[in-house]
Amino acid sequence: MAKISDTAINGHFTGKDILSLDQFSPSDIQLLFKHVSDMAKIAKNAKASDLLKGNIVTLIFYEPSSRTFGSFSASVKQLGGQTVEIQNPQSFSSVSKGETLEDTMRVFEAYCDAIVIRHPVQGTAEKAAAACTAVPIINAGDGVGEHPTQALLDLYTIYEKHGRLDNLTGLAAGDILNGRTVHSLIKGLSLYEGNTLYLLSPEQLRLSKTDYDKFSKKGIKLIEISNENEIPKDCDFWYWTRVQKERFTDMQEYESVKNKFIITPKLLAEYGNENLIIMHPLPRVGEIETTIDDDDRAVYLKSQIRNGMYVRMALVALVLGRL
Ligand code: NCD
Repeated sequence: MAKISDTAINGHFTGKDILSLDQFSPSDIQLLFKHVSDMAKIAKNAKASDLLKGNIVTLIFYEPSSRTFGSFSASVKQLGGQTVEIQNPQSFSSVSKGETLEDTMRVFEAYCDAIVIRHPVQGTAEKAAAACTAVPIINAGDGVGEHPTQALLDLYTIYEKHGRLDNLTGLAAGDILNGRTVHSLIKGLSLYEGNTLYLLSPEQLRLSKTDYDKFSKKGIKLIEISNENEIPKDCDFWYWTRVQKERFTDMQEYESVKNKFIITPKLLAEYGNENLIIMHPLPRVGEIETTIDDDDRAVYLKSQIRNGMYVRMALVALVLGRL
């Protein structure tokens, strides 16, 4: 299966790099979603699937990860494929000897059928994709840039609950400036009509002006707020995020903005509604009180997690031309 250099998905996932939500149209997203319930059945079934039999996927993560790494690894194995797994290549590979990203990619593309990469520098997945001519690259998070597979699973989780991805009102809270999951989610929601997203963050953690202008042009209504009492009571979802400590150079500044907005039972009672779902890409570091976890509306440790694996199973199988 050859790698395709076209970027837009346009109904064909096979051989494509998955770098950004910009590559998707609503029908591409629907095509992916069509396979997710089958993937859930496979995952729940004790019988092995051989959909990815003979396929090897490399996971190379230059930044820490639990869910993205774990779910990609499990996804490939659920479908009968195998993985080459490198976490922290800065310490445990020739990267520590000074090997360039391009060389590392060209080595691993010889061993496998696709490469999933996470890196602290924005744009690195694209760079990896340019270096890799033989196999597709999947962006598992590039610095403060994007996290497309997270957005796809987030969109699926919203779709599963509300049955649509248009005409939604949502709230994203926390680190909107540095949060790559929010950036990809905004792009995803922008593909559909009538969506409004409230962005609740400390002033310093608002979208950059460039991102705000760029995202607003795409058709989503973005409303920046800085106080909890501005949260509308008719939200379809809350998407809480962690303040991204690793993006700060000044720890005092981090301390001054972290956990400014915390979901407490009081906040939920005051601004939540019955149809709301509460999402978080995780890890949380205090911004959702654990007493919220058992609330039926809290999906971050429940369906959102499971959907992460099912959506990645479908995506990998599509990219490898097995669906
Ligand atoms: C997120 C990430 O890495 O961007 N985690 C994840 O992949 N689920 C969010 C975060 O680290 O805050």
